[in-house]
This record gives sequence, structure tokens and C-alpha cells, in this order.
Amino acid sequence: MNGYKVFAPATVSNLACGFDLIGFPIHGPGDEIIANRSDTPGVQIISITGAKGKLPLETEKNTAGVAAMAVLKHLGREDFGATFEIRKKMPIGSGMGSSAASAVAGAVAINALLGNPLTKRELLPFASAGEQIASGGSIHLDNVAPCLMGGFVFNCNNDTFDVVRLLAPKGLHCALVFPHLTILTAEARSILSPNVPLKKHVEQSANLGGLIVGLYRGDLDLISRSLKDVIIEPQRSKLITGFDEVQSAALAQGALGCSISGAGPSVFALCQSSIIAEACAQAMQQAFEKKGINSNAYVSTINMEGAKVY
Ligand code: HSE
Repeated sequence: MNGYKVFAPATVSNLACGFDLIGFPIHGPGDEIIANRSDTPGVQIISITGAKGKLPLETEKNTAGVAAMAVLKHLGREDFGATFEIRKKMPIGSGMGSSAASAVAGAVAINALLGNPLTKRELLPFASAGEQIASGGSIHLDNVAPCLMGGFVFNCNNDTFDVVRLLAPKGLHCALVFPHLTILTAEARSILSPNVPLKKHVEQSANLGGLIVGLYRGDLDLISRSLKDVIIEPQRSKLITGFDEVQSAALAQGALGCSISGAGPSVFALCQSSIIAEACAQAMQQAFEKKGINSNAYVSTINMEGAKVY
């Protein structure tokens, strides 16, 4: 076979208490790449749709291009040629892991064209290299790893690409609402204080531990008690007009927890059923609307598969 279609899903990362350490993908939005062999060595990005001209066609500036070239370099296959048609099927600068989805799709697409010499886990450093150019140079795998591998993924060490997939109860749903505001990840990172008071560190560590134990035990009450961010959310929420009202609206509808998705501005609510997630999405959109902000809402189960080759 000559060509492949690859899909890499949008992701929710941080999950309130796990800044840079944990995330999961959803179904629906994401990046699609149509990849074909070419006689010209290297990766040529021949088109990008759905990005309103905001993404570069130059391979070395494009997260999918950088990730794919990193795979070729690692395998000593710089002689290999490919073309990518990128179809962005999710918003950019949304806190839904847009750059990670591109980078993962690029790495998975070139790997498929090469006959899959690398496993998904082995692709992680190369997908991460792609995402790095969009995130101001910092390495954080909380979008890339779940996008690639599917399910809840915890990063034991962002520098050594040591990641683990977590067990999680079935039936969890996510309501994800993207308000039409733009926040660049680099900017949302630059406002964070480098210092964390010891008391906050202890609280946040307890919440992250509680979340992971809650996921393993299927203990929804513990998950709910743990989905709290005492460090990052208080600093970033001011970038999102109406955040407090949106969060209150989701919790009033029975969400297990609600916080900023990634660097924002999207806001997620984790819910125990599709009915609650639908109600949360509606209430969250209404709360944004009251502030004069339009939004898109996505309701999904946890995507257990991650990136997919068709
Ligand atoms: N963990 C990252 C952040 C996600 O919150 O800045 C955005 O890429």
C-alpha cells in the first residue's frame, strides 16, 4: 500500500492536579494526515486545511513535519520521501492539545509509510520533538503521550519519556468546552510562578495521588475529591473570562470535577455518565454565553485507542 490516513485525537491534560503529568484523549476532534510516498527525500507538507492559514507549510516549522523528520533521522532514513496533507479538525490554541495531535499524527504517519518499524511508545520522543517547537521549547508529555497511546497516561518522567497507562473505571465521560478565546501555551506557561509554597505542594501531591488511586479503584468520590488544582488554576483562570461561573455550572450539574484543559482556554468536566456530561456541556456553554463568549462543546468517553492508522 502506498498511502495512509492517520488520525490523532484531541486531549485533555493536567486534569486539575497533575500539571504536565497526566492526560487523556477524547473522540471526535483531532488531526488527520493523508500521507503518501514521494520520490523527493524528506517530508513535504503539500496542504493544510482547517487551520485558517495559522500553521506553517515549511516542514522544519511544522510540528507534524518536525516529528516525522525526527523519526526519519533516528532510523537513518533521510533518503525516504513523503508528502503530508494535514487536515486540522480541531481548534488551535485551545488547550485541547492541537500541536500534540499534529506532532503525533506526523510521527505515526511516517512510521506507517515505513512499514511500522517503531512501536507507539518508541515514537514518543519524536512526537515530543515536534510538539516542543510549538510550546516554547519545554518538554511535557501530558498531551503527546495520551494522544499517541490512548487512555489515561501518567508521565513518571517527562525527560526520560517514562510514561504509564493507568487503569480507569469504565463509563467516565468528558464534557469539553472551547470558548472562542485564544491562549498560547507559551504565554500561559510564562505567567506561572516558579515557586510553590510547601503547603500547596503537599495539597496538590495529595490530590494527584488521590486521583490515581481513585481511577484504579473506580472510586468516583475519591476522584471527585481529588480533581482540584490549588497551584495552576488560581494563576491561569484569570486568562479565561467567566471561568469561575463555568466551573460552578459544571459542578452544579454533578460533574466529578471541572478545571482548565491544558493551558486553556478550554474547560473540561469529568463526569460519571453521558447524561451528566451532556448537561454539564450545556450549562458550561450557557455560562460562557452569559459573558458574551461563544463556544464549542464536545462530549466524549475516554478514547482508549489514541492515534489510529486507517
Ligand atoms: N501541561 C501543559 C500546560 C499543557 O498546562 O502548560 C499544554 O501543552
